[in-house]
Amino acid sequence: MKPPAAWPIGIFDSGVGGLTVVRQIHRLLPAEDLVYLGDTARVPYGTKSPGTVIRFAREDMGFLLEQKVKAVVVACNTVSAWALPLLQQEFDLPIWGVILPGAQSALKRTKNRCVGVIATSATIQSQAYDRLLTELNPAVRVFAKACPLLVPLVEEGWLNHPITIQVLREYLDPLLRCGIDTLVLGCTHYPLLKRALRTACHSRIRLVDSAESCARFVQARLAELALLRPPGGRPGRIQPYVTDETARFDQLSHRFLGCATEPAVKVELPQSSQ
Ligand code: DGL
Repeated sequence: MKPPAAWPIGIFDSGVGGLTVVRQIHRLLPAEDLVYLGDTARVPYGTKSPGTVIRFAREDMGFLLEQKVKAVVVACNTVSAWALPLLQQEFDLPIWGVILPGAQSALKRTKNRCVGVIATSATIQSQAYDRLLTELNPAVRVFAKACPLLVPLVEEGWLNHPITIQVLREYLDPLLRCGIDTLVLGCTHYPLLKRALRTACHSRIRLVDSAESCARFVQARLAELALLRPPGGRPGRIQPYVTDETARFDQLSHRFLGCATEPAVKVELPQSSQ
C-alpha cells in the first residue's frame, strides 16, 4: 500500500552526524516533515563490525516504522555501506542511502576519472563506494582512505583547527599523490570540514558532499513516486529522537543542522530478533 504523501520522511544515523543530511533535505524540501533518529547511545558505528552495524540498522528501522514514515533515508554512510541492500529487502517502503547519490555526483564531476573517497574504517572496509563507482563507470580509478580521527575532531568542534588540517594532510597526501581530481566526503561529519579540506588539499580538487547529493536524490525519488508533500502548507517540522540523554545532542545539533528543531526526545529502540 502506498503511504500518504503527508506522512514524514524518516532519517536515521548513528548519532548527530546525520543532521548534515537533514539540513540538506530540509533546505531542498522545506514543506516536508522530518523524523530523525540518532542512535547516540551506541555511536560510533564506523568502528564496529558489519554484523553489529546490521543489527543496529534493523533496530533503527524498526523504530522509524513505528513513527509512520513514507520513506526512509539512511543518512549514515557506514549503515548505507553495510546494510542498505538488506534493509531494502526486509522492509516494504522506499529506503535510500547516501552512497549511490555520492558516487553518481563524483562521476559527473571527475574529469580525469581518478576519484578519492574518505570515510570511516567500516565504510572503507566494505568497499561499497569502490564497487559502485567502478560498476557505474569501469574506467574510473578509486583511491579510498579510512580517516577514523575526523569524527572526534568534528564533534570536538575543531573544524578549522591547525591539528585538524595537519591530520587531513596526513590522510589526503597519498590520495593526492595518486592524482585524484575529485574527493567524496563519505561520512556524515565531513561536510563540516569543507573549509579545512580546501586548506589541506589544493583548491582544484572537487569536493563531493554526499549529504547534498543525497538530498537531490531523495527529492527526485519522492517526485517519481508522487510522494512529495504539496507546497503551500505549513513549514515542515523536524522531530529528533535519540537513544541517549538529549543534552549532548542539544549541544551539538545546531552545529550540524544550523536551524531549530522540535525538542529532542529520548527513546528505547525495539530489539531486533535477528
Ligand atoms: N555516521 C557515520 C558515517 O557516516 C559516522 C559516525 C560513526 O562512526 O558512527 O559513517
